[in-house]
Amino acid sequence: MIVTLDGPAGAGKSTAARALAARLGWFYLDTGAMYRTVALVALERGLSLDNATALAGVAESLDLGFQDGRVLLGDRDISDEIRTDRITQATRPVADAPPVRAAMKRLQRRLAAGRDVVTEGRDQGSEVFPQAELKVFLTASPGERARRRHREEEARGRRTSLEAVEAAQARRDEGDRGRPVGAMQAAVDAVILETDGLSAEAVVERLVTLVETRRPGRTAP
Ligand code: C5P
Repeated sequence: MIVTLDGPAGAGKSTAARALAARLGWFYLDTGAMYRTVALVALERGLSLDNATALAGVAESLDLGFQDGRVLLGDRDISDEIRTDRITQATRPVADAPPVRAAMKRLQRRLAAGRDVVTEGRDQGSEVFPQAELKVFLTASPGERARRRHREEEARGRRTSLEAVEAAQARRDEGDRGRPVGAMQAAVDAVILETDGLSAEAVVERLVTLVETRRPGRTAP
């Protein structure tokens, strides 16, 4: 069974997807990490982020692995490196490039083949897995998302203002919604889950209930 979890930055997708996959014992596919990894490799090779063909070459030959919640490039653990601001910024042109998206789509489908998967991103339900049994679009108000991200930044010891976080978030939302290929959008058959005021645990409980009602072979009550 495939469960897709899409939505804007800061809606709590990663926490929810990771926890849901752990709870079900399923594979967790972090597609944001995949785009981030292409950006990391491109920077390390000194490639221009305008060169879509070169970026697609990186995406096609990515030796990527997911193990115990960590992201591996070959046998190198890059989980923390790909979350820096520098990589977040470099990921935008990478994720905008249509040939990169085409390569990622193929790789995402290959990684999910024959497995029970929770996949998280922007276009998973709308574009990559249109046949998924359950599609969820997880969202929250801009203010709530910015407050959560600001708390996380402070917890990591990074001093920043709520206004700066909110402005950066608005730019990312605009980029995610506006890209010509693979734009963030809820699939027409997605369940929209608003997480304002919900704890992470409550979100996971709702998702588990949704999965139970959509499992193949389940007969209607
Ligand atoms: O979710 P995360 O913040 O790790 O995503 C990193 C970047 O990759 C974001 O800029 C997002 O727009 C992009 N992305 C994407 N398609 C996905 C997942 C992430 O374009 N399926």
